[in-house]
Amino acid sequence: MDKLVIQGGQPLQGAVTIGGAKNAVLPIMAAALLAETGVCHLESVPFLADVTTMVAVLEALQVRVHFDVKGEQLITDAQQPLCSEAPFELVAQMRASIVVLGPLLARLGHATIALPGGCAIGARPIDLHLKGLRALGAQITMENGNLHANAPSGLTGCEFYLDFPSVGATENLMMAATLAKGRTLLENVAREPEIVDLAIMLNKMGANISGAGTDTLKIEGVACLHGTTHQVVQDRIEAGTFMIAAAITQGDVLIKEAIAAHNRPLLSKLEELGACVHESEAGLEIVGHPLSQAVAVKTMPYPGFPTDLQPQMAVALLLAKGHSVLTETVFENRFLYLSELRRMNANYTIKGNAAFLEGNTQFKGAHVEAPDLRAGAALVLAGLVAQGMTTVRHLHYIDRGYVQFHRKLQALGAKIDRFDDSNTPKVQVL
Ligand code: EPU
Repeated sequence: MDKLVIQGGQPLQGAVTIGGAKNAVLPIMAAALLAETGVCHLESVPFLADVTTMVAVLEALQVRVHFDVKGEQLITDAQQPLCSEAPFELVAQMRASIVVLGPLLARLGHATIALPGGCAIGARPIDLHLKGLRALGAQITMENGNLHANAPSGLTGCEFYLDFPSVGATENLMMAATLAKGRTLLENVAREPEIVDLAIMLNKMGANISGAGTDTLKIEGVACLHGTTHQVVQDRIEAGTFMIAAAITQGDVLIKEAIAAHNRPLLSKLEELGACVHESEAGLEIVGHPLSQAVAVKTMPYPGFPTDLQPQMAVALLLAKGHSVLTETVFENRFLYLSELRRMNANYTIKGNAAFLEGNTQFKGAHVEAPDLRAGAALVLAGLVAQGMTTVRHLHYIDRGYVQFHRKLQALGAKIDRFDDSNTPKVQVL
């Protein structure tokens, strides 16, 4: 099992390049299933474990995929007859595979997919995906843990209100509705930049979607979609993770080409904590100072504070002066990592969906395990400011969402190395 070994205490300095967004590229790859003619050329595709899982899902569905890892380009060809069944092993590995359901159903009129389970951050039901697909006319049944969806005469446009602006449900329903007969109105949808990126890609493929980035999507169904070229939007969560790293190490880091509008709530909280943010054409420069007063942070769907930066932000709050309150409203169980941070000298109590964090923490190096992807990143950040040496294991989680995380940190001056079990330094992460 690989491990990261971090010697804390170095302020990060320099510039970092951020990759394409994991949470944009996964649904965009699923959208490529809809291209009945032509091929899709995707650019800025990050070489992440989840992307390779989605490549395997597409290949199992008979899509031809070519992934130029170095050039970050991915080409898909879905012009041939496709298979309608997503294999259990792959769906079990990555629950985001559920986003193939909408496009498969729209294109083939039927699809089978294993019911994705929960994960370390919550139960994660898919009731909204299914309710919405039923509203579009699909018949859905469950048998032996598999979902069977059918729409033999195609889907029909509808009006559907999402009880909660679920990212995955918005993506699935938007893709399904592109080929439905007539107009679909989806209300209370997710507004994340990844949704906007998917809508841009689908419109380039010939879809007719308006309203992406607002709470209502209007989709006029079209007869078929075709291939296109698309560059995946920058990963605002990877960018945000480096912003927090710069602030807590009292460093000075330029996050190249970072899009300030995608990270407003984080930037505002970092400034409240005493960091300076300089916006320029080159990107966003974060200059860290000793973290001042405690602040309250509450996660919300976009444009609120992102749940995917909640664990990393906890590290900053634990360093700030005084007590901070961190409230999680998106997932039911996203504080598991705090017990790992406790090994590093953090103190806190949890009441319901809020964590009460004691500030002025002097983190101390320890052996810790990543319980999930973003929590893994948070443990690394704590290691960067800890006294002594921190060892982080269960790196397969971090590899799902960060390309060469330790190399990027090394280039900014962090003392961090990746070793395999035999204590041999690793040259290549993935
Ligand atoms: N929910 C339901 N019913 C549904 C769908 C969602 O109750 O049918 C609930 C979930 O259980 C959860 C909340 O709604 O409590 C939010 O779920 P959402 O559907 O918005 O999330 P997702 O599509 O499963 C994506 C990202 C997550 C990110 C969330 C929220 C991808 C592949 N994943 O998940 O990313 O946390 O949106 O922003 O896009 C990560 O990158 O670390 C990660 C977990």
